Amino acid sequence: MVATPSPRLNPASPVPAAGAAPLGSAQAPAALFPQALLLHGNGVERSLRCRVLQSPLAGVSDRIFRELVRRWAPEALLFTEMVNATSLELGHGRHKLEDLATEAGPIAVQLFDHRPAAMAEAARRAEAAGAFLIDINMGCPVKKIARKGGGSGLIREPELAARIVATVAAAVAIPVTVKTRLGWCGLTGDPAAVTAAAVHWCRQLESAGARLLTLHGRTRQQGFSGRADWAAIAAVKQSLTIPVIANGDVNSPAAARRCLEQTGADGVMVGRGTLGAPWLVGQIAAALDGRPVPPTPGPAERLDLAAEQLQALLASRGERGLLIARKHMGWTCQGFAGAPQLRHALMRAPTPAAALALLAQAASALP
Ligand SMILES: Cc1cc2nc3c(=O)[nH]c(=O)nc-3n(C[C@H](O)[C@H](O)[C@H](O)COP(=O)(O)O)c2cc1C
Repeated sequence: MVATPSPRLNPASPVPAAGAAPLGSAQAPAALFPQALLLHGNGVERSLRCRVLQSPLAGVSDRIFRELVRRWAPEALLFTEMVNATSLELGHGRHKLEDLATEAGPIAVQLFDHRPAAMAEAARRAEAAGAFLIDINMGCPVKKIARKGGGSGLIREPELAARIVATVAAAVAIPVTVKTRLGWCGLTGDPAAVTAAAVHWCRQLESAGARLLTLHGRTRQQGFSGRADWAAIAAVKQSLTIPVIANGDVNSPAAARRCLEQTGADGVMVGRGTLGAPWLVGQIAAALDGRPVPPTPGPAERLDLAAEQLQALLASRGERGLLIARKHMGWTCQGFAGAPQLRHALMRAPTPAAALALLAQAASALP
């Protein structure tokens, strides 16, 4: 459990959304999505009130990070870090499912593998553990995974991909969704060809039984370079009947609005923008709902957050918690005088106590 938040970290004193009516004004801005998104599974229907989704982030979106995200976005759909179906079969990664027992809001389990039967069995276990839905990773660009035919590797194996979706969808009652990219490669830089291929690929996933698609507007070849192609996402959205969530380069309420305007998507998913900023999903959700936006935490609150996350990681992972916390502390301790020196020292802190002392010292040195 993440400890009770410090009063400084209580996201209760919001500021108006950019372009929204000021606090106290009689005219509240209209919610962009007044209706919940309904996802029909194979017997179980899920209703999603919040149209901003927190990305699955391997090595980041663990239970402790998710608890922080929920502090600002209690209704948002969050994802586990990706779970490999074969590893689960062999007894590895079970904690990712066991953690679902304490999840306070909708949680999708993201699975990856190239074996339909293993995926179906993993999906059954995830459903039994309390998953809100099952998401299949067909976008991960990591070579080790794609080469074996998992993640983005499935883009090159559309028949197998369709079989995996259909097998998993038949194995569980909850909805099955897919997160993918525009395609495998950039088709020699021809954006129209990339878009046409993306439409074809995503239609195959829809026909196979995917109930929602999250589309990262880059090809596998692009990795994270260049800009996400929101126009291609718009073309896919127009050609599917299932909901489409736009993903790629949404890192502020203003960017989310622009992305939704340009894509016509049913929601947005936010990834890298949340590194060290677990408040971002909640801020974007508030802005889209026309609610006052919770303020971005300042230096003192960031230092509190870093210490809290470190303590929670130590409680759950023992001494190894310090290693995991390092990257989070590096992302969170930004934007104030002395932050670069603090980050440098934190990365070298030999013990948890030394890291906590550095954070406390930095907090007491704040003006
Ligand atoms: C550190 C990191 C870990 C990621 N892990 C996953 C993952 O486990 N599953 C997945 O589908 N995507 C993963 N992604 C991709 C993101 O979910 C997202 O699709 C991508 O970062 C684009 O969105 P953004 O521009 O908002 O970051 C990861 C990205 C990063 C940076």
